[in-house]
Order: sequence, then structure tokens, then C-alpha cells
Amino acid sequence: MLKKLTEEEFKRRAASADRVAVFKEFLADRETPVAALSRLDEDEEAFLLESVAGGETRGRYSYLGIEPRTQGAERRRGRLPRGHRADARGSSRQKTRRTYDHKKRKQKMKTHYGIYGGQYVAETLMAPLRELEAAYEAAKKDVAFARKFNGILHDYVGRESPITYAKRLSEHLGGAMILLKREDLNHTGAHKVNNTIGQALLARRMGKKRLIAETGAGMHGVATATVAALFGMPCEVYMGAIDVERQAPNVERMKMLGATVHAVTEGSATLKDAMNEALRDWVTNCADTFYVIGTVAGPAPYPEMVRDFQSVIGVEARRQCLEKYGRLPDEAIACVGGGSNAMGLFAGFLDDPEVKLVGVEAGGKGLASGEHAASINGGRLGVLHGAKTMLLQTDDGNILDTYSVSAGLDYPGVGPEHCHLHDIGRAEYAVIDDDEAIAAFDALCRFEGIIPALESSHALAEAIKRAPKLGRDKILLVNLSGRGDKDMENVMRYKASRASSSRV
Ligand SMILES: Cc1ncc(COP(=O)(O)O)c(C=O)c1O
Repeated sequence: MLKKLTEEEFKRRAASADRVAVFKEFLADRETPVAALSRLDEDEEAFLLESVAGGETRGRYSYLGIEPRTQGAERRRGRLPRGHRADARGSSRQKTRRTYDHKKRKQKMKTHYGIYGGQYVAETLMAPLRELEAAYEAAKKDVAFARKFNGILHDYVGRESPITYAKRLSEHLGGAMILLKREDLNHTGAHKVNNTIGQALLARRMGKKRLIAETGAGMHGVATATVAALFGMPCEVYMGAIDVERQAPNVERMKMLGATVHAVTEGSATLKDAMNEALRDWVTNCADTFYVIGTVAGPAPYPEMVRDFQSVIGVEARRQCLEKYGRLPDEAIACVGGGSNAMGLFAGFLDDPEVKLVGVEAGGKGLASGEHAASINGGRLGVLHGAKTMLLQTDDGNILDTYSVSAGLDYPGVGPEHCHLHDIGRAEYAVIDDDEAIAAFDALCRFEGIIPALESSHALAEAIKRAPKLGRDKILLVNLSGRGDKDMENVMRYKASRASSSRV
């Protein structure tokens, strides 16, 4: 390539020719060229495209939210005129630029999303949060960090995860095509591991010796215990006593992986109480302990950091859709507990206004019953776990007990960025109740041979509602955030209780 040129000359030539700035050493290097990207950041005219030859490594750009492009090589070969793009989404050069994550990461750490977010924590937690912010800022710019992260996602987690056309289900519904982003195929069986790898790497970089985590469905606990084993770090997981019972297989998995599981009996004995306990542990032990939060909630920088680590989902899915179907999906749908799999998916499409973003909250026994976990649809502004967000609370500000058949959605708050996306109308938030989620669970088993997590079944249920109302040319992309092995007993129990109540 242009290696012998000075950087100035290199940039000047790239900009004046409206060409691609690709550094030779990065074409040879199979890892994400973070340093190159941050240099390119300084020049609005230049951006990094990937060679066609290196196409198999494209997934590795996703950590930065940079969409690798293949048309650079095409343009160099003279097949495409200036300003023309190789994908199917229009011809504007502006439009080819994927700016959302790129620009965000160029900016200073984001603590607020509109009126939401922040760091509403005790003074004692400010120092560890500042330390974490500084460490994450530095890690974002470090080539070695991104290389390690992307390498583990590839070699250990098995990324990239495919998108699967749910053909029989779509044909049965008779409307839009339903595509599934298969996070259920990740090692450990859910999207959670993308984030735990990122945070555990950061912990190691910060010299922390011990990992702690909260967990609801147990998937984040398992994912944290897994990386702790991988990195040889002790790990303690806080889990509500009710969740310990309804997610017993995951408790056993965590123990098998060497983690200590603490059953939390305070409050509603679910995820919120587990998170309270984990925060207490962190305040006490922050000198040597890293708190691995499992979702885009909590004080800054967690919402941003977790979203960044999960953005691999959306960036991959966007590219896969373009490659396979020649266009973007019409709607991107994901379930929302704290909101990490949804933010990860949405991150890939935030700059595509034609893609509707749909979050799905747990309606439990129905919004009117009060027994649900739909914080955006049924909550009010408040502060929980260090962030201002939409909450399920009483008039006095006490946190309400939540309910959902799915433990992973059973949380009274939601990530602050979701509240903001809702306020500005960029995303909409639907509600799916237990019965609808179980019906979607059954449908995916029977029509596609895939047993989904109950959490993911909420997103699927929303797609099942929408698909028949849309034409066959429409695409609904559903994030299948996890697999349902952990839920078997729970589903059987739920069906048995419905059957006995219908007999009464
Ligand atoms: C498979 C699966 N999907 C979704 C969730 C909800 O979490 P989030 O909203 O952070 O993606 C969980 C939580 O445990 C989960 O296990």
C-alpha cells in the first residue's frame, strides 16, 4: 500500500482521491487496528475500509462499531465510480459512514443520555468509578486490548454468530421474513459472554484480582464464572434466592466453573437485590475487586461500556443482513431486561432511521395486574443502582417487586439509554406477557428446532405479532439472545400451573 509515504501525504492522497486509507500492516494483521482508526478519527475525510482479501476478519471491527467495507478494493479496481457504494442502501457517500459508535467513542465518556444516567452513588464509590472510567478510556484506544478482546470473541466464544432465516415459522405466519441473530450459539449460551470478556480483560488490565457479579437468569453469572476460570481469577456471584431456585441448572454450572454463589434473601430476592449486594461488596473490596455488571444499567461508565462490548451484535447483524439480503431489516427487535442485548443490537442501526428499533419488556401477568417488569411502559422516573432511569416504584419511591416468568427480565429498572431512545422516539417499547412468551417459545421449538431462552421468547413473540401484518418483502430481525436449556423446568412448571388453573 502506501506505507512509504508520510502520514500527511498518505492522508492527503486518500482525501483528494476520495479513496480508502488502508495501511498495509493492518491488512496483514488480522486484528482490529484501533490506533489507525483513532488516527483516522482526526481526519473527517478519511476512513478505513477493509480489503476484499481480508474479508474473513471483518467481524473484528465490530468492537469499535466501525463497519468494515469491501467497496474500497472495488473502487481501486475501477469498478465503482466515486461516491458509489457497493451495498444496496443508496448512493450517498455520507450514508456510507457508520458514525454512531465511532463518534461516541471518540468523545469523552458519556455519563448521561438526555435526562437519564449519571452516577448517583455514595461518595465511597466515586473513586472506583473514576478509576474504572480512566481505565476504560485508555483501553478503548489500545490496540492490544481490542486485539485480545476480538481474538477471544472469535476463538473462544465462536463469533461471529450467524443470522438464521426462520423459514417455516415465517411461512406459517404468512407475512414478513423473520431473521434470528443467533446469540444463543455463543459459548455459554447467551449474549452475556461478549460483555464479561470485555470487563474481565479490563479487570486484568487494572490489576484487579477478584471478580464479582450479580445475576438474574444466571446467564451473566455463568458468563462471569466462565471468564474467571479462563483468566484464573476467583469469582463470587450474587443471585436472588428466588432466582437460585428457578434457575437451578445455572447455579450448578457456576459452581462447577469454580464460582461461589451467594443466594440473596433480602427484598424480593431477585435481580435488584442481587445487584444491591454486589454493590455493597464492591464498596468494601474495590481495591482488589472488579464488579462485572451484566447489563447497560448502573452508574456511568457501565451503560456505555456494556453497550460497547455488546455492539458486536448489531454491527455484525447489520453487515450480515446487507450481505445476505442486500438490504437492512425493516425492524430490529430485542427483549429488554436491563437492556444489554437490545442496546447491542440497536447500536448497529442507530444511524439508520429506516430501521425501526423495538425493545420488548416483560408484561408478566399483564400491565393492569401490576405483576410485570415493564419499566418503560409501566414505570416512572427515579434512581436505582446509581443511575436515573425509569423504574417500577411506589408513590413514596420504594422499589416495587417485579414479576416475569423469565428471570432475566425480572428487573425493576432499565438502562438509561433506552429511556432516552424512547423519549426521542428513536425506539419503541412493546410489552409481551408470560402466555405470549411461552407460546413463542413453543413456536420456535416446533417450527425451527430451536429452543430459545424465555427472555428471547419475548422478542420473538413481538415479531410473531407483527409479521402477519407486514408484506412478505419486509424483514424483522430478532435478537435470539440466548438458548432455553436453563428454562426447561420453569416452562414445564408454568405449563403445569396453567393446566391446573384452567381445570379449576
Ligand atoms: C438470554 C437472556 N436474554 C436477555 C436477558 C436480559 O438481559 P439484557 O436486557 O441485559 O439483555 C438475559 C438476562 O439474564 C438473558 O439471560
